[in-house]
Amino acid sequence: SYFDKNSHGDILSRFTNDVDTLVQSLNQSLSTMVSSIVQIIGFLVMMLSISWKMTLMALVVIPLSMILVMVVVKKSQRYFKAQQKSLGLVNGHIEEMYAAHTIVKAFNGEEDSLKSFKDYNNQLYTSAWKSQFLSGLMMPLTNLIGNIGYVGVCILGGYLTIHGEIAVGDIQSFITYTRNFTQPISQISQSMNMLQSTAAAAERVFEFLASEEEVAEVQNPVVFEDVQGQVTFENVCFGYDPSKIVINDFSMYIKPGQTTAIVGPTGAGKTTIVKLLMRFYELNAGAIYIDGHNITDYTRSDLRNMVGMVLQDAWLFEGSILENLRFGRPNATDEEVMKAAKAAHVDHFIRTLDHGYDTVLNEASSNISQGQRQLLTIARAFLADPKILILDEATSSVDTRTEVLIQKGMDELMKGRTSFVIAHRLSTIRDADNIIVMDHGDIVEVGSHDELMKRNGFYTKLYNAQFEEA
Ligand SMILES: Nc1ncnc2c1ncn2[C@@H]1O[C@H](COP(=O)(O)OP(=O)(O)O)[C@@H](O)[C@H]1O
Ligand SMILES: [Mg+2]
Repeated sequence: SYFDKNSHGDILSRFTNDVDTLVQSLNQSLSTMVSSIVQIIGFLVMMLSISWKMTLMALVVIPLSMILVMVVVKKSQRYFKAQQKSLGLVNGHIEEMYAAHTIVKAFNGEEDSLKSFKDYNNQLYTSAWKSQFLSGLMMPLTNLIGNIGYVGVCILGGYLTIHGEIAVGDIQSFITYTRNFTQPISQISQSMNMLQSTAAAAERVFEFLASEEEVAEVQNPVVFEDVQGQVTFENVCFGYDPSKIVINDFSMYIKPGQTTAIVGPTGAGKTTIVKLLMRFYELNAGAIYIDGHNITDYTRSDLRNMVGMVLQDAWLFEGSILENLRFGRPNATDEEVMKAAKAAHVDHFIRTLDHGYDTVLNEASSNISQGQRQLLTIARAFLADPKILILDEATSSVDTRTEVLIQKGMDELMKGRTSFVIAHRLSTIRDADNIIVMDHGDIVEVGSHDELMKRNGFYTKLYNAQFEEA
């Protein structure tokens, strides 16, 4: 839910720009700070050894420059914060636009996108020049004040010499010390300036670190051995936003080894049920049990090992098809990979490619079709061989005939295992043991295809709607 709410580009910016700023300034400023402070102490001792009166004169100006630095820091801090924030916005926008490149082109969105970019970039520009200008003022200002002190020292030194209190040579050396004395001070003020952007960056990094952690794992998790695949939902209540409940009161019992189809209109909450079973989100009320144990009693990784899931938007990475499939089970042999590919009816397609299983997919895997991508992700889930398999509209871009074939292949593969299938083409799920019809986060009907058709209710309407035109 954290990644639902935050822009990916902004999070990336926190980890690149902000952390980088932190590292750089800690590298530079901290060492300058240390050496400057040591220098100041050394010079102070030498100056005091010559004349305490003149030292006092030289020191009088320091509070003055301190106040000045403080005023500037206070003013510019705001702009440093704004600068890091706009940097995140610019990054977020760019990341988003690159990800949606085709869509932006298709809707002639270049101009709008450029406009938003310019807005964000202008914000960045404005805050950046203001913060840089203000912090750039710091050095000349402290120099000026240092020089005033220098003049004071000269006058006082002249006066003291006339009265025979110190020798001319002392003034000479004292002035050298004063000169050197102001240098570390302006260096410190410059490091302060660096530290300001560091503070702004650190704040963003810590804000990320301080964000709410997911619910901790249980102390003594249930060890799963022989998973049966019995799933029970008990009065599950959930909303992405607690004030807006999506799943109201969902209860359902699934026998091990059954194939359960979940159907219903778009937005009914089908995917949400799946995400809850995978424990991507925590329930507001109720519980989900697998083999009689609450899913919160398993570790998350055990739970996700048991459950394999194929989502509607296929995710593949840059790499060969073989590597992509093997992501499901890293230690699978080539034969096992090919067997899974055959079950997903994608083996033939892969073999027609120039390099077969070694064909390299590009980053967005746009060099194969959407349906082929879906088939590959199904093969990957088959290979993972989970005890519970979920296909969430995983065949939505696959032709109907292949969809039916996959369904058959799955029956074979998932024998004795529990599977959930969410599909819109109801003809493909006719043979499911159980069909759950959902609407607005509630179960409206449950039963097999024949039972539901007899009832002549919501399901019958959905089913007939698909054949009316034909
Ligand atoms: N990440 C999210 N944050 C807030 N609301 C969401 C999120 N994902 C889905 N929803 C809302 O939850 C409801 C159910 O969504 P979903 O389970 O994805 O429907 P579907 O049955 O089509 O798979 C929808 O009204 C949707 O707007
Ligand atoms: Mg969905």
